[in-house]
Amino acid sequence: MKNLNIGMIGYGFMGRAHTNGYKRVNDFFKLDYRPVLKAACGRDAVKVKEFADNWGYESIETDWKKLIERKDIDCVDVCTPNNMHREICLAAAKAGKMILCEKPLAMSAEEGVEMCEAVEKAGVANMVWYNYRRVPAVTFAKQLIDEGRLGKIFHVRSKFLQDWTISADLPQGGAALWRLDVAAAGSGVTGDLLAHCIDTCIWLNGLIKDVSAVTETFVKERKHTLTGKIEKVGIDDACIFNCHFDNGSLGNFESTRYARGHKAQYTFEVNGENASLSWDLHDLHRLNYFDYKDEGPLRGWKSIHISDSDHPYLKHWWVPGLNLGYEHTFVHQVADFIEGLQSGKPASPTFRDALETQRICDAVLKSAKTKQWENVGR
Ligand SMILES: NC(=O)c1ccc[n+]([C@@H]2O[C@H](COP(=O)([O-])OP(=O)(O)OC[C@H]3O[C@@H](n4cnc5c(N)ncnc54)[C@H](O)[C@@H]3O)[C@@H](O)[C@H]2O)c1
Repeated sequence: MKNLNIGMIGYGFMGRAHTNGYKRVNDFFKLDYRPVLKAACGRDAVKVKEFADNWGYESIETDWKKLIERKDIDCVDVCTPNNMHREICLAAAKAGKMILCEKPLAMSAEEGVEMCEAVEKAGVANMVWYNYRRVPAVTFAKQLIDEGRLGKIFHVRSKFLQDWTISADLPQGGAALWRLDVAAAGSGVTGDLLAHCIDTCIWLNGLIKDVSAVTETFVKERKHTLTGKIEKVGIDDACIFNCHFDNGSLGNFESTRYARGHKAQYTFEVNGENASLSWDLHDLHRLNYFDYKDEGPLRGWKSIHISDSDHPYLKHWWVPGLNLGYEHTFVHQVADFIEGLQSGKPASPTFRDALETQRICDAVLKSAKTKQWENVGR
């Protein structure tokens, strides 16, 4: 088995989720590579050392440029806020490193194009962590659609609802609240939450042609953690958009951080000529399915417990009937990335695949400004 030396940049929420994936993957998946936790990088030496010791990294760096220069790093994992993805990825590609980058790929499609060109020119393996594709129920939905079971698709609707920014006293910016600072995040719920909905839905149903969007910033000014001053809020707090998919179906998407009572209600539903399916992150091990071919009086929605060995990824885990959770999606993504290295068929979404979501996010934000339908630029 070959070593795959990981250099992790950022050790927050995603730094932990990915590290767990690297640590678990060889226990459950038979692969030719073993991820080795070579180095963790963060600006605060004490904190990054604590993280490295706790999770088992061999060494630390406090400057990401040094980590990228290291000869003993094969693979750079970018788990920093969005405004740093571009610079780190360009440098990592130049240094010939494989790159696993968190979503959204970039702050804009323009940046995304530059990043795609850099990894393609360097010929390095690359992937973006749209991990919800690897929820077994979501992967199974993709299989059912690809098998043609739903027939012609008419509707796709998806939501991602949260409620954690309702208080006007919440500051913006800094280590804990960079998502509220447009300079660090690029956008609000569009790039943070809708990007997940978009990635999954275009994976399931193909590309989006044009969009009509409305965004709102409910709290217009917040104190900035870094400057201590009250500053304008530049992110979208909520976003709703309609769209046409290339295959003629209609899409309806909504995201907000102002839906009181919802922490991470990520859902989607697809309605086809012959069948419909729906999924809810709060019940992530279930796929709801309605088949019009079912016998008349027994026809109805069924809730399929995605836990059997013939469901995606499940044969690698426990006995049938036992649930997998959020963290398993990252183990699956690491396994798929490695299988891509082995087969030469890169695991999706590559940077190029994820650029599509970036383009749609750009069109959504543009449409909210112009109050017009906007084509997705390609
Ligand atoms: N796939 C998903 O479901 C998912 C979920 C959450 C976040 N994300 C994405 O992951 C990325 C990180 O989000 P998070 O929630 O882990 O954020 P976080 O705030 O928890 O962690 C960010 C990390 O980046 C580090 N960092 C910031 N500036 C740095 C620098 N100059 N050098 C080195 N390290 C630096 C911080 O110290 C921190 O450890 C974002 O792009 C976000 O959109 C994806």
